[in-house]
Order: sequence, then structure tokens, then C-alpha cells
Amino acid sequence: MLELKNVSKKFKEIKAVDSLSFSVNEGEIVGLLGENGAGKTTTLRMISTMLKPTGGTIEVNGYDVIEDPSKVRGEIGILFGGEVGIYDRLSARENIEYFGRLYGMSQERIDKRIAELAGDLEMTEYMDRKAGKFSRGMKQKVSIARAIIHSPKVMLFDEPSTGLDVSAARVIHEFIFKCKSENKIILLSSHSMAEVEKLCDRVVIIHKGKLVEQGTVEYLKSKYNSSDMEEIFMKLVGGGVHE
Ligand SMILES: Nc1ncnc2c1ncn2[C@@H]1O[C@H](COP(=O)(O)OP(=O)(O)O)[C@@H](O)[C@H]1O
Ligand SMILES: [Mg+2]
Repeated sequence: MLELKNVSKKFKEIKAVDSLSFSVNEGEIVGLLGENGAGKTTTLRMISTMLKPTGGTIEVNGYDVIEDPSKVRGEIGILFGGEVGIYDRLSARENIEYFGRLYGMSQERIDKRIAELAGDLEMTEYMDRKAGKFSRGMKQKVSIARAIIHSPKVMLFDEPSTGLDVSAARVIHEFIFKCKSENKIILLSSHSMAEVEKLCDRVVIIHKGKLVEQGTVEYLKSKYNSSDMEEIFMKLVGGGVHE
């Protein structure tokens, strides 16, 4: 399980995340939904140990992010939308291997895992080609393979389909469902209600770092007496874009 209890993050006087509590179970996809600046990326960075919370606790499969950061990193795979950061001068294989070494995997385990991933993600053909000339979709697959080289139990996605065309977004969405079928713990951030409605079992809506509502899409629709999730979202965050 992934569990956040009263998690806060202050940057000087800005409360980017303010006493946030929620959890994600195995086989569950939870969507962290909020406008730009709501605190989504900061939350994912704290879970992945890239940032330290200024308050509260985060447990990832029983490991505390502050007490056991390297154990936590071993449990987590993270995928960011937007620029994926593949090294152009390295081959797909070398890009992926590099991450395997960061996770302390043996060469034998890395080789075995890359062979598996090449098949699963249909990237055998270009595994040994330099990434510089790869299409966006090919790079996306390298970044997926890199994120799961160590077979993590928990998957974090930060705005996974931002900047992707429809077919590349579909590859990512299928990958997210595959993670669910493997019983992983999945948290994804999004500012798109449509994406969250398509993918998520449960939604956690945040605004200015605070949780404003959570529940299944069905629960929210019935509670707010509307079938339009966009409308419910706007009701809850109160048109904050105009502030
Ligand atoms: N490193 C940082 N230093 C100062 N302020 C930050 C930093 N990172 C994020 N913030 C601020 O924290 C708030 C939440 O940002 P972020 O988590 O990136 O939101 P989101 O991902 O939901 O768009 C914003 O007000 C942002 O400007
Ligand atoms: Mg963000």
C-alpha cells in the first residue's frame, strides 16, 4: 500500500502541499487531479524521495520515505509526461541499462529484464540503435522500459499523456492498465477529468495543496448530482484559474 498521512511541503512561505492524506491499494489506479500549481508534482516528488516532506508521513509498501529512502526507490517506478529525457547518443538498451545500474541490478538481471521488456513493448528492432533519431513514441517506450527495469510494485505517473499525440497517449494508457492487471499500486496525476475518468478507480481532487474531495467517479457523480465530471471539478475548485 501507498499511504500519505498529513503530508505537507512548504517552499519558504508557499504551502505547495497542505496536510494531504490518502492511500492507494494494490491493483488500484488513483488519479490525483488538480489545476496547474495544485501540488501534484510536488506530491509525486515527495513519494519518490526526490523531495523531503516538511510535515507528515509517507509509507511505500511499509517503507518510510525519510527513514528508508533507498528501499522506497526500489519499490517505485516513475514516468513523467512532457520531455522524457532520453540520452540521444546512447542506444535504447544503454539508456535502459543505465537505470538498471542505478537500481543496483546485476548485468545478468538487467540483460534478462531488457529481453523481456523488448518483447512486451515491441522494441526489439531498435533496441541497439541510437536514440537520437527515435520518434516520440519510440522514446516514450524507452522511458517506460527505464521506469520498470527493476520491476517496481508502485507506479507513479505525472501527467503521463501531456504533449503526446493520440496514439502515443494510447500506448501509455494501455501500459497503465497492464500495470493494474499486474496488481501494482498506481498513482497518476492529471489536470484532465476525461483522462482520470477513463483510467482511474478513484479520484483525489486537490486545490492549493489541500484535498477537497475523493471517491470513485460514480460516487462523485451521485453526490454532486451531475454526470459531467468537468462540471463537478469546477464546482469543487471554484474556478481557481481566474484568481
Ligand atoms: N522548487 C520549488 N520552489 C518553490 N516553489 C515551488 C517549487 N516547486 C513547486 N513550487 C510551487 O508549489 C506549488 C505546487 O506546484 P506543483 O506541485 O508543481 O503543482 P502541479 O504539479 O499540480 O502543477 C506551485 O505554487 C509552485 O509554484
Ligand atoms: Mg505538475
